[in-house]
Amino acid sequence: MQMLKHDLVYLTEDASHDAVIELINAEAFGPGRFAKAAARIREQGPHDRSLSFVCADDGETIASVRMTPVHAGEVKGHLLGPLAVRPSHKNRGIGRELVRIAVEAARRHGSEAVILVGDPPYYMPLGFERVSYDALKFPGPVDPGRVLVVPMAEGVHPRLKGTIGWRG
Ligand SMILES: CC(C)(COP(=O)(O)OP(=O)(O)OC[C@H]1O[C@@H](n2cnc3c(N)ncnc32)[C@H](O)[C@@H]1OP(=O)(O)O)[C@@H](O)C(=O)NCCC(=O)NCCS
Repeated sequence: MQMLKHDLVYLTEDASHDAVIELINAEAFGPGRFAKAAARIREQGPHDRSLSFVCADDGETIASVRMTPVHAGEVKGHLLGPLAVRPSHKNRGIGRELVRIAVEAARRHGSEAVILVGDPPYYMPLGFERVSYDALKFPGPVDPGRVLVVPMAEGVHPRLKGTIGWRG
């Protein structure tokens, strides 16, 4: 009998992961990934490695989630993304676990909200809610129905109004 053994480990991102994360994101999103509105925010400044995570299988990095500090209207939060899992490792709960770890890390860090642009059917069961239609102005076009938030402070929704951009 052959046993498939997997040794999945979740790690805080460090600089040694940069090259493989670039490959994972290229494979998941293709060349159009830099044109997205969320990518334009990420170009404004660095992500926060201490809140960004990878998953490794037997030492090989196979998934990544990154978090970037943002002002979203009056809210001091974090933008989640990119989230990508290598095709060989999809549908094992790795994406969900990376989102959970990143949101909890941001919460412990004192972040007021985790915001992303993504598919509601995937993220809403993970605690994300829709942001009021067109409340946030992104540096590029977004589908307002895909702008989602985990509020982690009092009165987040009414304060999510205005521009979203990188926070130093
Ligand atoms: C989306 C992605 C991160 C999910 O990672 P994953 O580890 O395969 O996901 P999980 O194992 O945690 O969850 C799998 C479940 O999510 C569902 N799912 C995956 N992508 C989905 C989507 N876009 N919308 C709705 N449901 C989705 C799967 O059908 C599966 O459902 P099931 O549990 O009922 O079988 C991964 O497929 C990926 O890297 N895709 C390409 C990049 C991408 O689209 N990133 C997200 C940007 S919004």
